[in-house]
Parts: sequence; C-alpha cells; structure tokens
Amino acid sequence: MIKAKNLTKKFKDVIAVDHINIDVPQGQIFGFLGPNGAGKTTTIRMLTGTLKPTDGEVEILGLNLKKHEIEIKRRIGVVPDEPRIYSHLKGFEYLEFVMDIYRINNKETLSKIEDLCNAFGVNYLEKMISDMSHGMKQKLILISVLMRKPEVVFLDEPTVGLDAKSAKILKELLKNYAKQGTTIFLTTHILEIAEYMCDVIAIINNGKIITQGTMEELKKQTGDENKTLEDLFLKLTAQEEDIKHIVESLSR
Ligand SMILES: Nc1ncnc2c1ncn2[C@@H]1O[C@H](COP(=O)(O)OP(=O)(O)OP(=O)(O)O)[C@@H](O)[C@H]1O
Ligand SMILES: [Mg+2]
Repeated sequence: MIKAKNLTKKFKDVIAVDHINIDVPQGQIFGFLGPNGAGKTTTIRMLTGTLKPTDGEVEILGLNLKKHEIEIKRRIGVVPDEPRIYSHLKGFEYLEFVMDIYRINNKETLSKIEDLCNAFGVNYLEKMISDMSHGMKQKLILISVLMRKPEVVFLDEPTVGLDAKSAKILKELLKNYAKQGTTIFLTTHILEIAEYMCDVIAIINNGKIITQGTMEELKKQTGDENKTLEDLFLKLTAQEEDIKHIVESLSR
C-alpha cells in the first residue's frame, strides 16, 4: 500500500532523507520513529505528494505517485504535524469545504461527523478556527480525515496536543481501522504509543533507516528480552553514556 524505493531528499547541503526503502502492506500500522530532525516529516511529505523527492520512487495503493497523484490524494488521508488550516472559517465550514472537495457531502458523512465529534468531544464547530487551541484544531483535522475513511492514512505526531481521553480514543480507533484494512503510517516520539500500536517499527536517524521490524524482532536486537524499545532506541540513536554525562553536568 505504501512503497518507497531509494527515496531521497536533499536541501542544499543537508541530506534530510537518504535512500530509504519502505514497504507497508494493507492493514498494517507502521511506526516511524527517530530523533528531532531525523527526516520523518520530510519522508511523510514526499510520500503524500507535498514535497518532490530529489531521487527515488513512491508507490501508494499500487500506483506511481508521479503518474497518479490526484487519484492517490483522493484516496489517502494526511494529518500533518502542525494544524495549519484556514483560520477564517468556522469549524463546520471547514468540514463542509472538505466534504465538497471530496464530493461526500451526504447524510452518511454527516452522521460519521456526528459520531466523531461525540467521540473526541468536539462541541465547538461554531467557533472560528483562528480562535481554536492547538488541540482543538488537531481534532478538527482528525475528524476531516477520518470522516472520509481513507484507505491509507498518514499521521505526523498525531497525539501532540491531544488530551488523554482524545489520544486514547484515537489510538483505539486507528487500531480498529487497521483491523478493517486501513493502512496506517504514523510518526511519534512517544515510544509507548509505537510499542502499543505498531505492527512494524522503523527507526530513522540522520536520514537513514537504521533498523526496522516487529516489536519482537527489535527486542531481539537488544540481546535482552527485558530491554524496552526505549533502550534500543537510545542505543541506536544516542549513547546512553552521553545522556548520563549531559544530565550530570546540567544538574551541577
Ligand atoms: N524546507 C526545508 N528546507 C531546508 N531544510 C529542511 C526543510 N525541511 C526539513 N529540513 C531539514 O531536513 C532535516 C529533517 O527534518 P524533518 O522535519 O524531516 O525531521 P523530523 O524527523 O520530522 O523531526 P521532528 O521530530 O523534530 O519533527 C532537518 O535537518 C531539517 O532541518
Ligand atoms: Mg517532524
């Protein structure tokens, strides 16, 4: 459902994403982890057609992204890291706008919106988007994507800004969607979320995927069953000794 071959992005001298390969089958929840600046958002932007790769190929839903960009964009959903949406619209106006674009302005969608609003506690659709908090906008975007039930969903740090209840509902909802066949690609810094939700986890560092596999496969790499994903993550992306040293010197 999501395939990247040698996907690469250079920004002048910086290689943000360096020849990565990704293959996510239908119904899988794929977790993309990595430190700040590792290349996660750049990858999502290339996979979803908002950023042109320097090199490499992307296939979504079995279709080449360059050749079938419009069809792909119609069938996928993207929840970006920053909720940048039309601030001059009211919440319901934004949802109507999305329904019109996707030609799904019908009773079925309206009833889905109602269910999603109840689930996420969205009772502020009359408000201007400019007057909404970060988390309120994030939930509005989530509703605008989930109401369409796209076949493939990309979420860039989707729980940032969400309260505990909304985050829990989102996690359970995404798991159910995956069971029903939706393919999900998400980035997160919260390792518990990755561990709880993802079928396969890939860790990217300095633009390169340094490891990927199921949670069990990753745990095996640590060579100790009792080690956590955090232990492995830090081992691969930072030096634990280094962290100890930094904290000690800052605590002085
Ligand atoms: N538009 C841009 N122009 C120049 N450099 C960029 C641009 N976008 C990203 N970069 C650089 O590419 C690298 C990867 O950035 P990216 O946003 O993909 O990281 P990330 O893994 O999403 O990080 P975070 O966890 O902080 O969101 C960084 O070095 C960043 O400075
Ligand atoms: Mg990012």
